Amino acid sequence: MKLGVNIDHVAVLREARKVNDPDILNALYVACASGADQITIHLREDRRHIKDIDAKNIMQLSQLPVNLECSINRDILDIVSELKPHRATLVPEKREEVTTEGGLDVFTYKDEIAYAIEQLHDSIIPVSLFVDPSIKAMEASKDLGAEMVELHTGSFANIFAMLNSSLPHSNHSIKELELQRYELESRLEKSILEIKNAALHAKKLGLQVAAGHGLNYNNVSYMMNIEEIIELNIGQSIIARSVFSGLADAVKEMKRLTTRK
Ligand code: PXP
Repeated sequence: MKLGVNIDHVAVLREARKVNDPDILNALYVACASGADQITIHLREDRRHIKDIDAKNIMQLSQLPVNLECSINRDILDIVSELKPHRATLVPEKREEVTTEGGLDVFTYKDEIAYAIEQLHDSIIPVSLFVDPSIKAMEASKDLGAEMVELHTGSFANIFAMLNSSLPHSNHSIKELELQRYELESRLEKSILEIKNAALHAKKLGLQVAAGHGLNYNNVSYMMNIEEIIELNIGQSIIARSVFSGLADAVKEMKRLTTRK
């Protein structure tokens, strides 16, 4: 399995103080040296964490392929076309969200996404679409001309966390998932099946399949069981663990868990 390490959260911490500490380029070096197969960053329209200069420096200095996440905003696409990442992943973006909450709406924004893909292809940049794990979204992604899909695993991760972590007892408990265990277990099973079926269908259509969002040291094994998935992009849990164990060990441990025997 290819492990994409998303280092945005290092910039989140830096921006909390508006200094250059922690240095995102240090994070890049450590992730590259500790088993990451790819570096993932998200140049958001509001530039809340990764700035243009970060993206430029990371593109120049990364020893690993860079997967650049971006919205379909035309100004952003112009920048991405110039940066020429190894791949662009198109994601939905809302100003008010804390993180990318759902997959791209490949139906309503079909024309805008088609335009974005065409522009990126003109700059010889392969495109992945961050989509919800549904059969229809796989078909639409194929029709739009993407090379790859990244399945949004947020719903799965939320259910898993409500079942298996302290989340329900915290300030961030997910109200709509405050359910009986048997109900959560049944939803978890359904969610895994959706991801599996979407991955299978995408592969049949000739799309490469990645997955990401909310994956961590406890739930990643479920993705490892879906053989059609060839890449995982993981950020929050790796950077969170690095507070306690250091980034090198956090990346190494995730790499160990995502290595297929
Ligand atoms: N993949 C995509 C497309 C994302 O937008 C994100 C979140 O920025 C991730 C993966 C990583 O998610 P997390 O930080 O929850 O691991």
